[in-house]
Amino acid sequence: MRLGSEDMLETAFTRLVGCTVPIQLAGMGSILSPELAAAVSNAGALGQITFAGIELEDARRRLNRLSQLTSNPFGVNVLIPYLDMEIVELAATRARVIDFFWGDPDRGLVSFVHEAGALASWQVGSTAEAIAAQRAGCDFIIAQGFEAGGHIRGTLGLLPLLSSVLDEISVPVLAAGGIGSGRSIAGLLSMGAAGVRMGTRFIAAEESNAHPDYVKAVIAARAEDSVRTNRFHVECALCPSTHGVLRQALEAADAFEGEYVAEIELDGERTRIARFRGTPPFNGFHGHIEAMACYAGQSVGEVKSVQPAAEIVAQLVDEAETLLGRPPTNSAQEVRPELHEPFLPED
Ligand SMILES: Cc1cc2nc3c(=O)[nH]c(=O)nc-3n(C[C@H](O)[C@H](O)[C@H](O)COP(=O)(O)O)c2cc1C
Repeated sequence: MRLGSEDMLETAFTRLVGCTVPIQLAGMGSILSPELAAAVSNAGALGQITFAGIELEDARRRLNRLSQLTSNPFGVNVLIPYLDMEIVELAATRARVIDFFWGDPDRGLVSFVHEAGALASWQVGSTAEAIAAQRAGCDFIIAQGFEAGGHIRGTLGLLPLLSSVLDEISVPVLAAGGIGSGRSIAGLLSMGAAGVRMGTRFIAAEESNAHPDYVKAVIAARAEDSVRTNRFHVECALCPSTHGVLRQALEAADAFEGEYVAEIELDGERTRIARFRGTPPFNGFHGHIEAMACYAGQSVGEVKSVQPAAEIVAQLVDEAETLLGRPPTNSAQEVRPELHEPFLPED
């Protein structure tokens, strides 16, 4: 990180990937749309889409759409339990980064991605896993803290995990889990992170594919409403696992008396969603959305309205630059002047 230069937020990550803002949009399954990924990339950060359990032709369609919407670098997030080498090969010829999660870092897979022309990243939940990812040849690593939304790989909070990973790892390291503000970004860059990965903060983006009732619940929630549980385990390839979810969703699913909470029609076929199924609610679901897996990290308290993704990125960058460009201070008015009444002396 270089302070006080024109590119105040330039880091080893932005240089490696070719973007200008050290933020990676987290993999978020079907909550992500090509429109959201493109908007984040066009705002200078690294947009991503997730390919998990989809057909090759569907992957091709989504990549085509994304390429129409941005010429900036973007990533494709792949969950190891859904690994499909044809899709990885296709994605690696089109994306700047192939981003893996939920499996042991694999040297063969990383080489495959490199040979197809992309960078490889791996989200990890422990220092041992970070070391394995670096040994496997990953170009950068994401350290995911326990504060995260969605499936949580490890057991440590972000700060102890990141401190330890930064001591051991020489490739760029991004921080993930509970990050929702420019203040957090400034702090994590000062710690030595090369950037951050953010999921929950983008659920209420205008371009997101999250169901409107899920978006409302996220906007209404406070940080304390993000709880860790293992309950949304039904038909989930990543379970048993711990996941970060809204307390209200857990309570609604507990109180629900039927077998199926919702349904969706996909390609003319109706699919019913069992209570405690691990699928988050995206557009097209009907039923008790409030009782579905409304994943959210502790960053959820920072989501206050529906905003275009470009505005979210710009606001985060502004806040982070304001803090990093000034001498250390603990005064909130540096970042959020609206929080403070001006002090007016009587004379
Ligand atoms: C709704 C939701 C879905 C997620 N799905 C995925 C996924 O498909 N692939 C993945 O790598 N991570 C997934 N994650 C975890 C993110 O990669 C990341 O670790 C997390 O969003 C960071 O915490 P934050 O939400 O507080 O920013 C998901 C997170 C959320 C909130």
